[in-house]
Order: sequence, then structure tokens, then C-alpha cells
Amino acid sequence: MPTHETRRANLETLAAWNANAATWDEKMGEAGNDFVNILQWPAILRLLDPQPGQHILDAACGNGLMARRLASLGASVTAFDFSSNLVDFARQRTASELPISYYVLDATEPGDLEALAHLRFDSALCNMALFDIANVEPLFRILSRVIKPGGVFVFSLMHPAFNNPTSVHILEESDLGGEIFTQYAIKSSRYMSHFQAYGLALRNQPKPQLYFHRPLEYYLNLGFQNNFILDGFEERAFPPEVPASNPLTWGGQFHEFPPVLIARMTLPNRA
Ligand SMILES: C[S@@+](CC[C@H](N)C(=O)[O-])C[C@H]1O[C@@H](n2cnc3c(N)ncnc32)[C@H](O)[C@@H]1O
Repeated sequence: MPTHETRRANLETLAAWNANAATWDEKMGEAGNDFVNILQWPAILRLLDPQPGQHILDAACGNGLMARRLASLGASVTAFDFSSNLVDFARQRTASELPISYYVLDATEPGDLEALAHLRFDSALCNMALFDIANVEPLFRILSRVIKPGGVFVFSLMHPAFNNPTSVHILEESDLGGEIFTQYAIKSSRYMSHFQAYGLALRNQPKPQLYFHRPLEYYLNLGFQNNFILDGFEERAFPPEVPASNPLTWGGQFHEFPPVLIARMTLPNRA
């Protein structure tokens, strides 16, 4: 059962995503950004392997960027988000011939998610959103009911070890030994505990939103408890040649550290 605190955090999260919807839609548009195009999308294609004719669920779809990409590959897509403002942008951006059905649903509300119960999916995607959702247990439960046996759930995360709200980007320079030496590092001060913290998904967004940090074992164990098996996993770092917009934002200079991870969990075929 969600606690009063979780409900309060979820309402605050909803208010933030509604307030930030126009900024998010403008920045992500159809083209996405380097995180989407270099880190997420190539791995999503490998792990989700979307095929024409499949029915795919896009959970927490934002402005529908992923839903439209999947539909353009021939899938029919059901997509939902709890921000009605974002779903409005998603609908406006979707050409009538694309087979996408959008819903406004709150992933923390089991009653809302029942709207999906009569549907069956070959696969489901939750791109860069589980850490934005105040309670992800109802989502994992419904996914294990609506994904077909043998189907997959692919999710991406800000890497909880290297890209969490406590992560600090460090650039150090020394000339020890008579040579100028620069070194990039990431320092995180929290990992194992669950905590929430304000942050910015985009630098100029009007309102900070809450991040819900959880260690990786939490997400994997939640999948296992809901009958999923982990059978695909990628940690995604920028290649060294990718320029960053400033020396300390994510880019190729941090190629030793993956800001994003992507996991595939499969529901076994019934015997
Ligand atoms: C970082 S955005 C990612 C959007 C999209 N998946 C993409 O790849 O562009 C996170 C999304 O999670 C959504 N979200 C957060 N909490 C949610 C909830 N309880 N139910 C449904 N969506 C939620 C937000 O509204 C936002 O659209």
C-alpha cells in the first residue's frame, strides 16, 4: 500500500511534470538529444527488437517520442503517462496514420493500471522513467499480467551508481612527474539507500522534479518477484569522441562511466 508520503511525493511529481511539459516537449521534440540518440535508442533497438505487427506498451511515455519511433517501425503502440499536459503534446505530435493509443494513467495507482488489463503486449518499454515514479511496484505487477509469455520488458535508468542525485563530476589536473595530467572522475556519496531528491531533467526547466533513487538490486529483484528473468543488460557510456556542451557535463570525456543502463527482463513461456 502506498504511504501518505509516497502519495504526497507523487502529487508533487505530477505537478512538476505538468509544469515542465512544454519545456520537455520543446527540447525532446522528435529528434531527442544525445542521451536518447547515442545512449538509449541503439540499445533499445537491440534489446527490445521491435518488429512490425507487434503490440508494444510505452510506459511513462512523456511526449511520445519513443512511441512514435516504435510505431514508425511498424509496431502498434499503447502509450501512457500521468501528465495530461505531456500526453496532449504527444497526441498533437502524432500523425493520424500512426497506430498509437495514448492514455493518461498514473503508474503508482493500481486502479488506473487496470485500464491496461484487457490488453496483451509482445513487449513493453519504460525509457528513463522508473526513477521518476514514486512507487514502481504496481507497474511491475501489471506488466507481468499484460505482457505475453515469452515477451519482454525493457527499461532504461540513469545509472544508479554513476548518475544518481548525489553524483559529482570531477576534473582534476596535476603535473606530477613533469607532465600535465587531467583526470575525469565521478564521486557518489549514496547508493544503497532509497532516497528522493530534487533535480533537473533539463537545465532550464521551470520546476525541479523529484528523483526516486533505488539501488539496481531493487529493480532486478522486483522483476524476479514478478516472474521476469534478466536476459539482457547494457551499460551505456558516451564514446570518447562525443563532445560535451561544457567540460563537466556528460560527454566523451567521461567515457569510463556509463550515465545510463538498459535492462531486458523476459517473462518465461509457460510450460
Ligand atoms: C524522463 S521522462 C521520460 C519520458 C519518455 N519515456 C521518454 O523517453 O522521452 C519521465 C516521465 O515519467 C513520467 N512519470 C513520472 N511519474 C509517473 C507516474 N506515476 N505515472 C506515469 N508517468 C509518470 C513523467 O510524466 C515523464 O513523462
